[in-house]
Amino acid sequence: MFKKMKLWNTPVKRNTINERVTRILEQPCPEHVAIIMDGNGRWAKKRALPRVAGHHEGMRTVRKITMLANQLNIKTLTLYAFSTENWKRPKFEVDYLMGLPEEFLGSFLPELIEENVRVTMIGEESRLPQKTRKAVDDAIGKTAKNTGLNLNFALNYGGRAEIIDAVKSIANDVKNEALTIEDINGPCFSRYLMTQALSDPDLLIRTSGELRLSNFMLWQIAYTELWFTDVLWPDFSETHLIEAVEAFQQRTRRYGGLNDEESKR
Ligand code: IPE
Ligand code: IPE
Ligand code: MG
Repeated sequence: MFKKMKLWNTPVKRNTINERVTRILEQPCPEHVAIIMDGNGRWAKKRALPRVAGHHEGMRTVRKITMLANQLNIKTLTLYAFSTENWKRPKFEVDYLMGLPEEFLGSFLPELIEENVRVTMIGEESRLPQKTRKAVDDAIGKTAKNTGLNLNFALNYGGRAEIIDAVKSIANDVKNEALTIEDINGPCFSRYLMTQALSDPDLLIRTSGELRLSNFMLWQIAYTELWFTDVLWPDFSETHLIEAVEAFQQRTRRYGGLNDEESKR
């Protein structure tokens, strides 16, 4: 039943993971999981390695977690890979990060295609170097018809920039009479965001112990369940994703209302 057994190196671990996956699939799963993949630099520092070694190792985690998310029938996995503020980092590190999509997709794209994964991207693409855009566009094009997990990279993404762009487009449409002020409401606003084709995240995971959003999906996260862990992204394993999804399945989402039992009292 589980094709990707090769991911889990020992039979005992594999069995435990498979059992937990089976149990998770018996209950409603989050449709959209978003992850702030943080802690690569600290992972490297702990090993006296250059920060970029942490980014390289983090790529391996992306691969593992993508495959498990696909198996968990998660519809969309949005991974925060580079923020609009990350340009402030030293040029060497920025250059390295900009090379990762090419390296990652270069080796992993055939597997993504085989697994029916569809690649998409949110973020301002025009500022990305040519080679980065080419790698991402190529993956988007080659996986466009796939119907499995949507692996959505947030690359040069910033929540505030996204909201400002949406406001500008709305203002333009009002000016051009394509939209009236009365038309502007929550669903309408969502259609002007880069995530227009996606549902809002059900579960947000942030690794590395930081308890903040760092400009990630500020509009979309309004009623998202949050899950934080001290684990650094390169150490984040299948078991951690399973833990997060299990925790999600224990939560009661009220959206400001009451659940059935509470309404009766
Ligand atoms: C996350 O790891 C990756 C990116 C932000 C691109 P960091 O590079 O932020 O790692 P820390 O937070 O410094 O440990
Ligand atoms: C958030 O991590 C951005 C990504 C994971 C891509 P940062 O490391 O940039 O966040 P801060 O600076 O600690 O808030
Ligand atoms: Mg960080």
